Amino acid sequence: MLEEIRLLAELSNAFGPPGSEEDVREILKKELEEHADEVRVDKLGNIFFYHHGGDKYPKVMLAAHMDEVAFLITFIEENGFLRFHTLGGITPNVMPGQTIILKGEKGFVKGIIGTKPPHLMKEEERKKVLPIEELFMDIGAGSVEEVREKGVDIGTTGVFDVKFAELGGGYLRGKAFDDRAGCTVMVQVFKTLKDSPYNLVAVGTVQEEVGLRGARTAAWQVEPDYALALEGTFAGDVPGAKPHRMSARLKGGPVITIADRTTITHPKVLRTLIKVGREKSIPFQFKKVPSGGTDAGAIHLTKAGVPSGTVAVPCRYIHGPAAITHVDDLRNTISLVREFVKAISTT
Ligand code: CO
Repeated sequence: MLEEIRLLAELSNAFGPPGSEEDVREILKKELEEHADEVRVDKLGNIFFYHHGGDKYPKVMLAAHMDEVAFLITFIEENGFLRFHTLGGITPNVMPGQTIILKGEKGFVKGIIGTKPPHLMKEEERKKVLPIEELFMDIGAGSVEEVREKGVDIGTTGVFDVKFAELGGGYLRGKAFDDRAGCTVMVQVFKTLKDSPYNLVAVGTVQEEVGLRGARTAAWQVEPDYALALEGTFAGDVPGAKPHRMSARLKGGPVITIADRTTITHPKVLRTLIKVGREKSIPFQFKKVPSGGTDAGAIHLTKAGVPSGTVAVPCRYIHGPAAITHVDDLRNTISLVREFVKAISTT
């Protein structure tokens, strides 16, 4: 198995709701500890890997968020069903019937987002998307006491329960590719530059999905000269999509953001990305729909400002139970980011 695929599989299977990123953090630590000059975790849970280079080179920060869209238990029904909210954007149309996994006080608890049997639904009920208020989780408990006995309580968090799989032909399926694909890119780039003369800080950030929160405090501590947010972004190349609305497609290479809701990519960062892509013959594409936001949105407004941008691995179906990406996109993103770090450090 390719090293990139092994790592994406491990990261994808890890549990990491916003605010509970510890399992993902441990994987990043295990991968990069021996390659970094310095490793540090801050009070919010961001993890920093420093590669100290020569004084004449700028400090380049790579950020990949460790959290994934998740569920938060907010109420326990008397008969043991759980009511919930989301942490990050999950739309109710992808929820009913999905298997989920919660991390309680006594370990992992499996369950499902239940629905009324279709046999008992009225005709119009079958056609409509149920709002989240009408959905519930079933973890196999018949009372509040039985729920607590499993270690689950109000405030417990959970994620979709989907295992990583290779689909053949280079296609990969798994949960949380947003942003474990970005985490994979960050780890691989850091490893390939560990003996370089450049100054690199790789940061696994927390709580991106609820508003770029970890990146804000992380950038304040790092004070980078340049920053790149590494992401898994949406690809819209599915049946019914219009070319100008699909934004990005699989096997089209890394997705470079020009502008989104939170950032306009700094001209020097954008020019450098395009230049290295062309010079090194690495395929790339642009994000064509300026929606969404990334850690770059928080980073670039830090202190006196940080020239920043975003590069992402295209992934279909992000923020749903599972996404699909292609290994070529993963590998080309790693190449583009590695060449970017070299180029921005020397120009
Ligand atoms: Co993301």
